[in-house]
Amino acid sequence: MKFKRILVTAALPYANGPLHIGHIAGCYLPADIYVRYLRSKGEDVIFICGSDEHGVPITIRAQKENTTPQAIVDKYHQILKESFKGLNISFDIYSRTTNKLHYQTAQDFFRTLYQKGVFIEKESEQFYDPEANQFLADRYIIGTCPKCGNDKAYGDQCEKCGSTLSPEELINPKSALTNATPVKKVTKNWYLPLDKLQPKIAEYIEQHKHWKPNVYGQCKSWLESTGGLQPRAMTRDLNWGVPVPPEIPGSQGKVLYVWFDAPIGYISATKELMPDKWEIYWKSQDTKLVHFIGKDNIVFHCIIFPAMLMEHGEYVLPYDVPANEFLNLEGEKISTSRNWAVWVDEYLKDFPGKEDVLRYVLCATAPETKDNDFTWKEFQTRNNSELADILGNFINRVVVLINKFYEGKIPHAGTFSKQDMLLINSISEAPLKIGEKIEQYKFRDALFELMQLARFGNKYLADNEPWKQIKSNPELVNTVMNLSAQIAANIAILSEPFLPNTSAKIFNALKLPHLKWSNAGSVNILNTGHQIQKEPIILFEKIEDSVIEKQIQKLQEKKVSYTNNNQPLMPLKTEISIDEFDKCDIRVGKVLKAEKVPNTDKLLKLEVDIGLEIRTIVSGVAHCINPKDIVGKQVIVLANLKPRKIKGIESKGMILYADNGNGQLVPVSPIQELTNGSSVK
Ligand code: 2FM
Ligand code: ZN
Repeated sequence: MKFKRILVTAALPYANGPLHIGHIAGCYLPADIYVRYLRSKGEDVIFICGSDEHGVPITIRAQKENTTPQAIVDKYHQILKESFKGLNISFDIYSRTTNKLHYQTAQDFFRTLYQKGVFIEKESEQFYDPEANQFLADRYIIGTCPKCGNDKAYGDQCEKCGSTLSPEELINPKSALTNATPVKKVTKNWYLPLDKLQPKIAEYIEQHKHWKPNVYGQCKSWLESTGGLQPRAMTRDLNWGVPVPPEIPGSQGKVLYVWFDAPIGYISATKELMPDKWEIYWKSQDTKLVHFIGKDNIVFHCIIFPAMLMEHGEYVLPYDVPANEFLNLEGEKISTSRNWAVWVDEYLKDFPGKEDVLRYVLCATAPETKDNDFTWKEFQTRNNSELADILGNFINRVVVLINKFYEGKIPHAGTFSKQDMLLINSISEAPLKIGEKIEQYKFRDALFELMQLARFGNKYLADNEPWKQIKSNPELVNTVMNLSAQIAANIAILSEPFLPNTSAKIFNALKLPHLKWSNAGSVNILNTGHQIQKEPIILFEKIEDSVIEKQIQKLQEKKVSYTNNNQPLMPLKTEISIDEFDKCDIRVGKVLKAEKVPNTDKLLKLEVDIGLEIRTIVSGVAHCINPKDIVGKQVIVLANLKPRKIKGIESKGMILYADNGNGQLVPVSPIQELTNGSSVK
């Protein structure tokens, strides 16, 4: 099939957290390289993405942060959008699934399937919170894990032992909303009968044997799993999501399953981008639809979404789903909850102007066929020994030598030697070689081929030593410098998909307009006499050890650990000396009086006898401690803390409390009665 246009999508990230390097390496960077290449080739291509703003984790996050789901998605949509922009991920549109147009599109899609009789209606018993009067998603049910005893396991998963669970398996289940014991209640939902559709889906997958082995293999194992595909509910009893079309009987209180609405987000974003032309992309069989995703999204893009599209009937089906594996960080799995990640927004702040360095390293280490590891040391080595020493050095030498020998004007190439001919041959093959690799989603190999050009260039200069031969053999040097400059021009064109900023800098240095892929492969890009930039060009600065050490330290310092029952523990603070500790005067004291500060939620005013005197101390613990429970108890006081005025009360010192793991503060007390004023050392 000869395709006329290419529709590229990248998985819509959930708007409940920032982006990390794993997302970029797994999905967005390969997609961006692919699209930039196709644009450079002059193909009709569009690149679609946006925020996925539904799903239970968003509502849970809102509840934790005491805010609304809308406020959460508004915040993270902006952060995601800026991170993508910062890394030059060149979407044609970055939309969001809380858009009105998306609601309409998703509801229309559902309506069509409903009217065609695609869904089966099924009643099932679901957990219900009788106090909150609402059904509970699996994540909203917390209880004891039957496998490891963790008393904070979720209804879908125990994060301590990693087991996949169902809410029925939890011992002593409770609602995360009200702590009530959930009850079972019958509810009706609409299911996509994947069991019935299995033969069609299997046929579709068989027609796509060209998929990457990891993708094709995962699909096969889903199809071949015991019992085959099962009907899957496309609606949920929740209040955050796209409402089921209201005219459908029984739709009240129900929303579309997030994995039903999210992929339709690709369609609504295209509509938003091209209100008049979107159908050409989505409804023509000669559109090549390519979904870039991470491996955890394979089943949704290769089985469920195609099944939805098939049943709808008007849409083209995904042609390719190039999913990557996962990227690890310093030998450990990237984890949002453990804060074990390099966050894109932080990288952009810490390394301004080094967007291409991250793109380069993530492409060179992308987990294309298996999980791979990102380390800060490798990041440094790739920057210093590859980008700076090979690519940056070559381009700089070309610019400097042409200025030194010819006042910045491209010299005329004379007769070509055998070595020249070999080099010319490599240049002419490069666009095809790199392009083929990109089209096969082998971005690491493609990047390697690009770097080969710079390697050849450096070797060519080193072999011919123009700086030595300029006097004795000027004819030869003319040819060497002409060809070297032509290599630089080729690199400017061919590096654009990978390193867009660097490519632009090379074009500028050579005083060339931004040329397209079809211009590459030639050694006549720069005419004899063409004037290039006078100033030397430093594309990549070396990165010092101290910068890398700081990043490694930052990772360790921010890493969150967990106790046996899954409570987060604060990471250790920076080391201090005994002298620094000695500055703290810590004493035993007895609480004589305690009362709530009027018109505040959290403040408790305490009178404490610290032996030397009686102190007034204000603590933010009224939500955790009943005043009568603390009076008469001995506590530990940081006595030489500078006094502070809190709500008009002068607080002199600080009582020490420990977190009980549930966010409640408990005073720390000596295990036997001591003299008030005793020093704590
Ligand atoms: O895994 C994820 O982050 C999902 N939000 C991806 C959705 S992709 C598409 F279907 F929208
Ligand atoms: Zn467990």
